[in-house]
Amino acid sequence: MTSVIIVLASDEYDEADYIRTYHEFLRWEADAAAVTEVPYLDLARGAREIAPELELVARRVLRSGYFIGGPETQRFEDHFADYCGAAQMVGAGNGLDALVLALRAWGVGPGDEVIMPAHTFIATALAVDEVGATPVLVDVEPDTGLMDVGKVEAALTDRTRVVMPVHLYGLPVDMDTLKAIVAGRDIRILEDACQAHGARYRGRRCGALGDAAAFSFYPTKNLGALGDAGGLTTNDAALAERVRMLGNYGSKVKYAHELLGRNSRLDPLQAAILDVKLDLLDGWNARRRELAARYSQGLSGLAGLQLPKVRPYVEPVWHVFPVLAPGQRDSLQAFLLHNGVGTNIHYPTPVHRQPCYAGRWSSGFPVAEAFAASVLSLPLDQTHTDREIDYVIDRVRQFFSA
Ligand SMILES: Cc1ncc(COP(=O)(O)O)c(C=O)c1O
Repeated sequence: MTSVIIVLASDEYDEADYIRTYHEFLRWEADAAAVTEVPYLDLARGAREIAPELELVARRVLRSGYFIGGPETQRFEDHFADYCGAAQMVGAGNGLDALVLALRAWGVGPGDEVIMPAHTFIATALAVDEVGATPVLVDVEPDTGLMDVGKVEAALTDRTRVVMPVHLYGLPVDMDTLKAIVAGRDIRILEDACQAHGARYRGRRCGALGDAAAFSFYPTKNLGALGDAGGLTTNDAALAERVRMLGNYGSKVKYAHELLGRNSRLDPLQAAILDVKLDLLDGWNARRRELAARYSQGLSGLAGLQLPKVRPYVEPVWHVFPVLAPGQRDSLQAFLLHNGVGTNIHYPTPVHRQPCYAGRWSSGFPVAEAFAASVLSLPLDQTHTDREIDYVIDRVRQFFSA
C-alpha cells in the first residue's frame, strides 16, 4: 500500500490548513477542480471515501461464516436502536417490508383503515394494501409537503387502526399535535422514517416518536447499505419479537412455525457495512445541513422560487432538498440539465394519481397535486463540495434572472 502525506505549511497553526484523512484529501482534491457539472448524486464518490473500511468489514464477514443473522446483524440492530433512542431494532429486507411487518404484527388487515399522506413514496401506501387494509389519504402542508396533521381528525373513523406520518425529505412531522389528535383511541402511530435517519423532533430522533418506525437503508438514503436493507425500531418488546418472527418464516425456534410469516431479514454483510456508516452519520447529516444553509442563503429572494420551510422545533437531515417552482419546475429542470446539473423530482405523481390506484379515490388532494407539480430536488449530499453547490446556486439564479 502506498501512503501519501501532504503537508500544507503556514506561518501559524490553523487546523483548517491540515488534511488529516484520505477522506479530507478527496474533498480537497474535488474542491480544487473547476466545476462544470454537478451530479444529483454520485454513489461511487461516497463509497470511495470509505472503501478501505468497508473492504475490511466485508472480509471480516466473509471469514466469520455467518451469512444470515449472527453477531454482525445483532450489533448493528443494537447500535441503531440506541442511536434512535428506541429499545429495539429488528432488521428487515427493506423499508417496505418493515412497514408491512409492523402492520401485520399488529393484526391490521381487511376492513381496517390506515391514515397516511397523499404525497409520499408509493411504498407507504403499498404496505397498507399488502396487508389488505385500506389507505386513507390526507392532504399535505403547502410549504413542506408533509402530512397536514390538522386534517387527520376529519379522516378518523371507527375503523382507523394506524396513522402513518412520513418524515419526508428528512423533515419530521409535527408528532405532538398528531399524538394529541389520536389520544384516547386505540390507534397506533407507525412512523415512516425511511428518509429521516438522525432527524430530530423537539430534540428526539425520528424512530422513537410513535409506537414503531420503519427505516429503509436503500443505497441512496442518508444511511444506505450496498443493496436493499431495512428495519423497524420500537420500544415495544412484544411487537419486536412478533416482527422478528414474521420476517423469519413465523418462527422463533427452527422448524416450529407459529405464525404465517415470510423471509425478510437484514443480511450480516449489509449490517456490518451499515454499522461502519452509522458512526459517520451525524457528521454527514451536519454537512447536509451546512449545504442546505448555503442553498437557503444563496437562493433567497428569488421571485418564483420557494425554499423548503423548516419548523423551529425540528432538526432536519435533508435526505432531499426540495424547492418549489410553481409553473416553472419543468423548464428550470431542463435548464439545469442543459447546464450540467442533475436534479430529481420527489415525487411527480401523488399516491391517488398513480395508475395502480386508478379509480380508487373519487376526490382529489389539491395541495398534494400542486406540490407534486412544482417540486424539484436540487443536488444535496454530504459528498458535494461548496463549489458544486455554488455552481447550482449560480445557475438557478441565472434561470430566474432571464
Ligand atoms: C418514504 C419511504 N417509504 C418507504 C420506502 C421503502 O423503502 P425500501 O425502498 O427500502 O423498500 C422508501 C424508500 O425508498 C421511502 O422513501
